[in-house]
Amino acid sequence: MRYDNSVKAVRGSFFHITRVVTDPAEIESCTQFVEDGLLIIRNGCIDWFGEWRDGRELVPSTVRVRDYRGKLIVPGFVDTHLHYPQSEMVGAYGEQLLEWLNHHTFPTERRYNDLEYAREMSTFFIKQLLRNGTTTALVFGSVHPQSVDALFEAASRINMRLIAGKVMMDRNAPDYLLDTAESSYRHSKALIDRWHGNGRLLYAVTPRFAPTSTPAQLEVACALRKEYPTTYLQTHLSENRDEIAWVKSLYPTHKGYLDVYDSFGLTGPNCVFAHCIHLEEPEWACLQETGSTIAFCPTSNLYLGSGLFQMDKAWNRQIQVGMGTDIGAGTTFNMLQTLNEAYKVAQLQGLCLSAFHSFYLATLGGARSLGLDDRIGSFAVGKEADFVVLDPVATPMQQLRYDNSTALRDKLFVLLTLGDDRTIYRTYVDGQLVHERG
Ligand code: GUN
Ligand code: ZN
Repeated sequence: MRYDNSVKAVRGSFFHITRVVTDPAEIESCTQFVEDGLLIIRNGCIDWFGEWRDGRELVPSTVRVRDYRGKLIVPGFVDTHLHYPQSEMVGAYGEQLLEWLNHHTFPTERRYNDLEYAREMSTFFIKQLLRNGTTTALVFGSVHPQSVDALFEAASRINMRLIAGKVMMDRNAPDYLLDTAESSYRHSKALIDRWHGNGRLLYAVTPRFAPTSTPAQLEVACALRKEYPTTYLQTHLSENRDEIAWVKSLYPTHKGYLDVYDSFGLTGPNCVFAHCIHLEEPEWACLQETGSTIAFCPTSNLYLGSGLFQMDKAWNRQIQVGMGTDIGAGTTFNMLQTLNEAYKVAQLQGLCLSAFHSFYLATLGGARSLGLDDRIGSFAVGKEADFVVLDPVATPMQQLRYDNSTALRDKLFVLLTLGDDRTIYRTYVDGQLVHERG
């Protein structure tokens, strides 16, 4: 699937976190800043990384060095939760989750029945990811299998590492969006056979959330994951109090919301639960014991008035957390802006999210939460060459604050507080330049 085997060399200042940590307190000791660094890429993977002075002789004379001195190069961002068929409804006014789904989301997702429309929006969506520095994402499609074909086609054109799945939804939604347990199995299976492991693409079995699946459909989701154990599972959990009450009424014999998924075998590594705001203690314990992942989506949680994610509980239990933009309940594709809001969610609970921790969540920590830390998330030799060139002085305000900060931690913090898509100067996927700031 690779479309270019050439060698590339990139010079500039590099920042990354070198290894996975279990305790956020360890992150600072795992940071590496190389002021004048060099990255050599061969066949889309990192061949060499270190100081420019140590590596310059290794660059073949036929290779032009891309010189980004004055910029900051970081691993590509990882977005662990968003919906591509909701791009056109970001900022829908005035409602919380269940009304928002009925009035805005379902009518919008209906359009993705049309393959041509889905193709057009897939191209738009992938471009938005790249212009915001996101190089890996875990994405919901619509219920229509062709929506996921369109998305995977668009991602495969640049050999992007993308995980996606067709929504499974066989009740409590408009007729025009319903599948059945049987058709969701058949369509998901065909998509897995076509796309899972095709290039860098991976498949996620995607029951929307417990209220829109019958027990028969959750059984099917479990069967698919048993049949294809390397696939992912993505869904929503404990986002909104009315949603939780609804789940309890639909599944009265279960101990709680998460117990519904757990009892159908839908917890464990590579199972990603978006939101997790109102969890009860046994649910935190279940996420920890099963090694499941949480996608923390601050802009969405604030926008829909869902509540504040309790980061400290996840830290204390060492539960994997990744950052999610949750487009279209989230209001930005931009990971810097998402981290900016995460900081405020922490502040509202008397917690403090450091710049190093934030960058970890958006890069190596996000990769770890998707079981991809051996392939992406840092500049370790052998990893896939997905990275972003950040412009720390993209606006006059950023310039002013940058000039008035000295320590690296402060410069990074200002970057993620004031940064947006203007900060993303270049994006590279698979060693190839895929976005240049206009
Ligand atoms: N819960 C079920 N579906 C959705 C969705 O599309 N967005 C959000 N934020 N929550 C959901
Ligand atoms: Zn979502």
